[in-house]
Amino acid sequence: MSRKIALITGGGDCPGINAFLASCVRRGNSEYGAEFVGVRKAFAGLASDNPDQYLVPLDTENVVGLENRSSTILESSRFNPFTEENKAKGSPEKILANLERLGVDGVLGTGGDDTILSALRLEELGFPTVMAPKSIDNDVSGTDVMLGFRTAIFFGAQAARSTADSARAHRRISLVEVMGRHAGWLALDIGVASGADLITIPEKPVDLAEFCAEVGRFYKERHYVNIVIAEGTSIPYNDPVIRRAREESEVVRALLEETPELDAFGNPKLGGISQILRRVLRIELGLKKIEEVRTTDLGFTLRGLAPAADDIILGIRFGIKAADILLGEKRSGVMVGINGLEIEEVTFEEALKPKTVHRPDRELQALGVFISSSHQN
Ligand code: F6P
Repeated sequence: MSRKIALITGGGDCPGINAFLASCVRRGNSEYGAEFVGVRKAFAGLASDNPDQYLVPLDTENVVGLENRSSTILESSRFNPFTEENKAKGSPEKILANLERLGVDGVLGTGGDDTILSALRLEELGFPTVMAPKSIDNDVSGTDVMLGFRTAIFFGAQAARSTADSARAHRRISLVEVMGRHAGWLALDIGVASGADLITIPEKPVDLAEFCAEVGRFYKERHYVNIVIAEGTSIPYNDPVIRRAREESEVVRALLEETPELDAFGNPKLGGISQILRRVLRIELGLKKIEEVRTTDLGFTLRGLAPAADDIILGIRFGIKAADILLGEKRSGVMVGINGLEIEEVTFEEALKPKTVHRPDRELQALGVFISSSHQN
């Protein structure tokens, strides 16, 4: 009897996910005769009281041409069925009951660290699950690259380079803010590829006085500076520089008073640090006009992109491997990944070890990363 597989895409969307979906369906159907059903909104759809509303039939006909499409056709959510609250509501049991009623034998999906954690929990409940890594943050272990990262870098570098050229033409300081949560991969590679003078990453907390002095040195020398800022860059909020900015700038006061929301996995919603640094630099460098420091927040522009060839190829290779593991070898509890050029696999537990930027300071500084004297190793 042919096996039936549910496909889900959880967490932040990104390029390359649809290529994975199309590849799973093609490989699973042509090689193993399996049938597929997409479930919209990932674990929220799986745990729904009316799962039928979330179903998307997927077959080798209707996935034709899907590879090039941006984001995910299955929508997404950050729903966590395993919080105490959702466990009390019976979400895990509902998922198992829904999968059984739909006649589903296994789950294939894409996800970042949070979705992979939910997949691990589902596997622990005895339901066969295999995942592929996706996130522009590139912050999951067991893979050199996650789906979406390469396209985000390609587009992000072009965008940052264009702001750099404009800042040079108008003799300004340009701050380009990018996502990345607690990992600096996105900021690092976009900064290097766009020729940024300075790059700040979460792994290297910023001493603001030193940072402003460094920016001031560049600005004095040639009257423009290009800086790429990771959204998770850590600045000490009790720092005298911040205290001064809080006194002098209404905007800084308002931004600092905002308590970041937490998502269902306890992650703070980041974003906006470039607005604080813009005012800090104007005050510390004694600039007459705020216009001398301009900000560009690339934010979601790096998520909803049509995939570059790299992510289409990666999505297809991940799909083939994931289908072979779940349907061919009848194994589960693993995440596929790429190591060098080889597609490999790791357990969910291994994948969940955070992957942040750890390179020698000497190399990072040569690449433009700003490292405060107190954080040099
Ligand atoms: O995880 C991917 C990511 O884009 C992070 O870089 C960012 O901090 C977060 O998602 C934004 O989350 P949301 O889409 O829920 O606003």
